[in-house]
Amino acid sequence: MANPSLLILPGDGIGPEVMTEVERVIAWFGEKRGLAFDVSTDLVGGAAYDKHGTPLSDATMAAAQDADAVLLGAVGGPAYDDLDFSLKPERGLLRLRKEMDLFSNLRPAQCFDALADFSSLKKDIVAGLDIMIVRELTSGVYFGEPRGIQDDNEGGRVGVNTQRYTTNEIRRVARSAFELARRRSNKVCSMEKANVMESGILWREEVQWVHDNEYPDVELSHMYADNGAMQLVRAPKQFDVIVTDNLFGDILSDCAAMLTGSLGMLPSASLGAPMENGRPKALYEPVHGSAPDIAGQGKANPCACVLSFAMALRYSFDQGDEAARLEGAVQKVLADGVRTADLMQSGDAEPVSTTDMGDAILAALDDSL
Ligand code: IPM
Ligand code: MG
Repeated sequence: MANPSLLILPGDGIGPEVMTEVERVIAWFGEKRGLAFDVSTDLVGGAAYDKHGTPLSDATMAAAQDADAVLLGAVGGPAYDDLDFSLKPERGLLRLRKEMDLFSNLRPAQCFDALADFSSLKKDIVAGLDIMIVRELTSGVYFGEPRGIQDDNEGGRVGVNTQRYTTNEIRRVARSAFELARRRSNKVCSMEKANVMESGILWREEVQWVHDNEYPDVELSHMYADNGAMQLVRAPKQFDVIVTDNLFGDILSDCAAMLTGSLGMLPSASLGAPMENGRPKALYEPVHGSAPDIAGQGKANPCACVLSFAMALRYSFDQGDEAARLEGAVQKVLADGVRTADLMQSGDAEPVSTTDMGDAILAALDDSL
């Protein structure tokens, strides 16, 4: 049987640096665990624009559709700030999400014991935190029509975006949240603004419908998203799985991420419908962005990208044990005090480089055998 295929899109900023470490981890699993992948690499974002004049070429889009899983680094940077909206690096990522129909975005926010002091919140509020945000990723205000900037015919202009959700779009992401909850602590909290938005009323009703008809065993609650933001910083451990729309999910997941101390630690999975081989369409990426301020300096933390590959092992390749091995290796490295600059507090010793962190993870993987 052919090896499963992985398309790697390092992208911009720190993307290529952190992805280099992930490629070493992928090679380790091939050599030491007999899990070989056919890896190919391509361009996305500003890097693709520089070469092809578009943030995602049709050929790369087709390769992503064919791959068993896509691993992405990061997109964007100040060099592209003045580009036309349709050519911005972010459009490459949004095209991948939309055309692969990756409607369910899993963003775990887990507080690693060794990092509980790094949170801006008190240690006892975040220690042991383990929540999963399920963000709808292919609809809502990110994609709704009409959209655009027009003259308002009174000498000014008007900017328009449309929040739009259908029954099917809400139900399918709700199902993926309930499925995940069953394998965790069996609790889902759905967040919207049903007090001011019709799309929020529909969201609440449809999530409740899926619950009542298909997942009555899972505990479901509803919360307005603004209260959700407040509860996330007040008492985050009350949550297990949070399901929410594209824009609220974007904001709430950054907030939840920071509870854990560093954006440099958080992976994500974006999943769609099953392909013919039974695997879901899937793209894995760290939650941190391209961090142009530190790009090219060998300072970036590769852990989030490495942990994104662990999510690929679990959700695309049914290798939950190997995913846990990799997560365990990252935990061990942190417990041993290995720290990139983003994980330092004043008074700590010298930070390690991106490559040093990769070396430490590989050594911990060797130790796990
Ligand atoms: C994210 C990012 C993206 C988003 C950007 C880069 C388009 O913030 O993945 O959270 O807004 O979805
Ligand atoms: Mg975001």
